[in-house]
Parts: sequence; structure tokens; C-alpha cells
Amino acid sequence: MANLTGFYKRSMAERIALLAAEIGLSDEQTTMMRLHQSVIGDNQVENYLYNFGVPTGLLIDLPVNGRLVNVPMSTEEPSVIAAANNGAKMMRAGLGVQTQASQRLVRGQIILTDIIDMVTLQQYVTLHETELLQIANAAHPSMARRGGGAKSILFEQLDEQRAIVNILVDPQAAMGANVVNTMAEAVADELRGQGYSVLMAILSNLASEALIHATVRIPVAALATKQGVTGAEIVAKIAEASLIETLSPYRAATANKGLLNGIEAAVLASGNDTRAVNATLHAFAARSGQYRGLTRWTVAGAELVGETTLPLLLGVVGGSIGIVPAVKLNHQIMGNPTVEELTAIVAAVGLAQNLAALRALVSTGIQAGHMALQAKSLALQVGAQPDEVGKLTDLIQQADKIDETHARSLLHALRNGK
Ligand code: MEV
Repeated sequence: MANLTGFYKRSMAERIALLAAEIGLSDEQTTMMRLHQSVIGDNQVENYLYNFGVPTGLLIDLPVNGRLVNVPMSTEEPSVIAAANNGAKMMRAGLGVQTQASQRLVRGQIILTDIIDMVTLQQYVTLHETELLQIANAAHPSMARRGGGAKSILFEQLDEQRAIVNILVDPQAAMGANVVNTMAEAVADELRGQGYSVLMAILSNLASEALIHATVRIPVAALATKQGVTGAEIVAKIAEASLIETLSPYRAATANKGLLNGIEAAVLASGNDTRAVNATLHAFAARSGQYRGLTRWTVAGAELVGETTLPLLLGVVGGSIGIVPAVKLNHQIMGNPTVEELTAIVAAVGLAQNLAALRALVSTGIQAGHMALQAKSLALQVGAQPDEVGKLTDLIQQADKIDETHARSLLHALRNGK
């Protein structure tokens, strides 16, 4: 790969040409790359090639805190947006999702090692809390001016020689990573100046100081299936499935993956950091020492009640949000939510997604719905043209096997009028 050295110094066009020469790309491939290049992308990442598109679809009329919101979702998984819409429809049979948020603080960790006198360190931090907070805020003055910024310090002893000085920061409308890292590094410099050994200074992605609680109550009858399974049967099984998630970490991981199908798609479309959201949710799911499902469904009289508490730190400013036009568009589609509203929307998307998955799992199973969508993907994959996709999708679904070879022969037969 010697010919690719200095790749980052090349222009966007040169990078395509170099890569094409190195590994042999078709004209079709290089044209595809050129068509998906953007100056913004080139400024966002190193060795930029092109923008990898993720299909974005709409979750329509998600009922959140008394409003119906349209939510763009970006995902490559065929069934996700269909399922989210299905979940939202069931939720609209009741009053929809209600949320309550706690404080919204981000934690920065200044990790100290080789501590000789823990008591003196703790006293120093307690006595100088105001000064350390001032140092943190001086590193990002605009945040404090707007009423946010570093609010408090939490001393945490890890063992005899190790401790963490945590700063808790209100990042206002931002997700907070940059602000907190800047502030934590400033406090780290001060502690180094006092002779302490600082291993690192970085935010924590376990956002336990930014919790949102979401609840939804749905009339049991709204859960009945077209195949004749009653709402009462379905809700009893959903409640049972929810209980299993507290007992089996293997089931809990899958259920949380389903929740994240929705959450991650909405978070990605909103220009937020999906990895941060994944990290916080999985860490929180294991907070009791056993990994559990993040939602809880119970039956209360004639209603199915869904609840979740999620540590969620999102932003409506910062990162790619003000830069990428598609992200701006997605915020506009949602009605330009505040950060609190966006957090509520994302939690509600998670509940809708989880509900649809559980209802399918305890009734028909998910393959029936998935197969229809997979048949369509397969039709496209084997080269069906727009006017052929519908017919080929039907043929693939009617066939007893869904595989590429069979789909190709069905397309061949379709084209030959057989
Ligand atoms: C598939 O992407 C997601 C599900 O497995 C979630 C779940 O099992 O709850 C259906």
C-alpha cells in the first residue's frame, strides 16, 4: 500500500484516482464515490473518500408529551422504521409517551494515581472546590455566561493510591463532550501544578447524571393482532417477556439491541454520537451487577404500561449538528426540538421500537414481517429495476426459500415472461 502514503494531503479527486489505481476500481465505482463526495465530509474526517449513505425514513406521529412528532430515522436494517411506526400507532391509542427528566449534567473524570496522602488530597479538593470550579469555567467561559458550566465537584477514592476528581458540568444545549474535556484538562493542569500525578482527564460516557424517565400506557385492546390473538393474551406475554429480561442477560442484550434499533437510528439522524449512546445504555443496563433489559412492561387493569429510565446525553448544538445540511433538515422535520425535547423524543422512539418488537415476538414471531422486507432487499440486490421490484418481491415471498440464487432465477423468469 506504499502508493497511498500521504493520502491525507491529496485532493478528494486525487484520492479516488489513487485508490482506483491501487486496487482497481470500475468507472461505475469511482463515479459513485465522486457523486457522494462533499467538502464538508472532507473537513470532517481524515483520508476522506466519500459519504456512505444510510437510508433515512420517517417515523410519523410519535406521541410524546402531548404532541405528535415526526422523527427521521437513519438505519440500514429493513424492518426498523416499519416497526417503530407500528409501535407509535399502538401508542396513539392511548395518551402517548410522557417523560420526566432529572438534572442534565456531564461528568468529567480527572484520574489521579500514586497518591501518598489521600486525606490531604481530599481536604485540598474540598477546600478548593470553588477555585477548581472557577478554573474549569474559565476554560470555557461562554458556557458559564449562559448559565451552564461546571457546577460541582465529587471526590471519589478508588483504592489506597488512586482517586478521581469528578467535575459535574451543565452543557446547556450541547452533548457536552468537548466542553467537559476542555474543563477537565484545565483542572488536571491545576492538580499537576499542585504536585499530583494525573493519569488522564476525560468525560465519562456513563451519563447517570442525565436520566430521562419515559412512561406509556396503552389500552390492552390496541395490542390485538390481525391474526386474531387478543390484546389480553398479547399484553400478558409482553409482561412475561419483560420479566425474562431481568433474569437472562442473553435475552436482555437482544431486547436492548432492539431498543437501540430505534434509539440509534434517531440519534444518528439527529447528528448525535451513537457510540456514546450505546456505551451509556449498556453500562446503565448492567448497573445492578447483572445486565438487564432497559424497559419494563406490566399490565395494570385494562392498560399495558411501559417504562424506561435511560441515561441520555444528546445535543442540539455542537458536533456535526450545525454543519451537516441533512442533520439541520432532520431537526427541522422534528420541529427544531430543544435538547430536552429531543431527549424525550429519542426515549419515546426506543419505547415504540421495543413495544413493536415484543408484540411481534410473542405473537407471529419477527420473521414474517422481516421476510417481506428482506424479499424487497433481495429483489434490489439481484438487480431488479424499479418497475420489477414489486413483482419480484411478491415472487420471492411466495417461494419457499429466500436466497440469492433463487431470486436471480425468479428475475430471469420474470423477464422472460415465464
Ligand atoms: C432485531 O433487530 C431486534 C429484536 O431482536 C429485538 C428483540 O428481540 O426484542 C427483534
